[in-house]
Amino acid sequence: MNPKITAATLRAMKERGEPIAALTAYDYPMAKLLDEAGVTLLLVGDSLGMVVLGYPDTTQVTMPEMEHHVRAAARARPTALLGADLPYRSYETVEAAVTHARRLVAAGAEFVKAEGGREILPQIQAIVAAGIPFCGHLGMLPQHVLEEGGYHIKGRKEEEHQKLLADARALAEAGAFAVVLELVTPPVAREISQQIPIPTIGIGSGPDCSGQILVTHDLIGAFPWFTPRFVKPRLNSAAEIQTAVAAWKKSLQPADS
Ligand code: KIV
Repeated sequence: MNPKITAATLRAMKERGEPIAALTAYDYPMAKLLDEAGVTLLLVGDSLGMVVLGYPDTTQVTMPEMEHHVRAAARARPTALLGADLPYRSYETVEAAVTHARRLVAAGAEFVKAEGGREILPQIQAIVAAGIPFCGHLGMLPQHVLEEGGYHIKGRKEEEHQKLLADARALAEAGAFAVVLELVTPPVAREISQQIPIPTIGIGSGPDCSGQILVTHDLIGAFPWFTPRFVKPRLNSAAEIQTAVAAWKKSLQPADS
């Protein structure tokens, strides 16, 4: 059996230049399958809202929904590091951030992730001080999609570039063990990855991050109604399911009665 992956493993992987392969999992079978396939990190992301729960974005995902899915994924007892997103508005104060991070850990998460930079630094410091491994999330922040009016690439403007760099440095100094960079321009993602000691995990941010994360449903074509432009699906599982169902339906015999 492979040794359990921890935050320290990810740091060592960055130092060795070994890519971190991260995917989302929201339930027991997917967590088990992806773990058996050798994924480094599993995230019960709040993308759960769109690809599993049918919400239009991540802002409607609740804490009880996250806990329910974290419990299911944790039952797979993965070798991969298993983390969970703090849902929208669950970390507006230091007290709320620590309370909700502890609830996700009680449900089985080995780390928590929250979106934002220096504006949530007190919350990050408190989570780290409580002994809970913390992963940052910079760039496009899906929990802000309504204010931002869509999913926009970050880092094109010099002001955004400098803010991203300063936020990434602040997260590393605050004790985050990794940071997700979402829809950050590839040159800025590369610069951040070179400048900070902790691993960067990119999504739509080019190849030069310490690792990559995808929503599993996008990778395997399980949510065919929308696929982000930067994802190249490796399987068309939606079509395979429909073909299998159609074949089974055709095989049904008329009853004698
Ligand atoms: O919610 C999510 O799934 C995420 C990742 C895709 C980074 O935050």
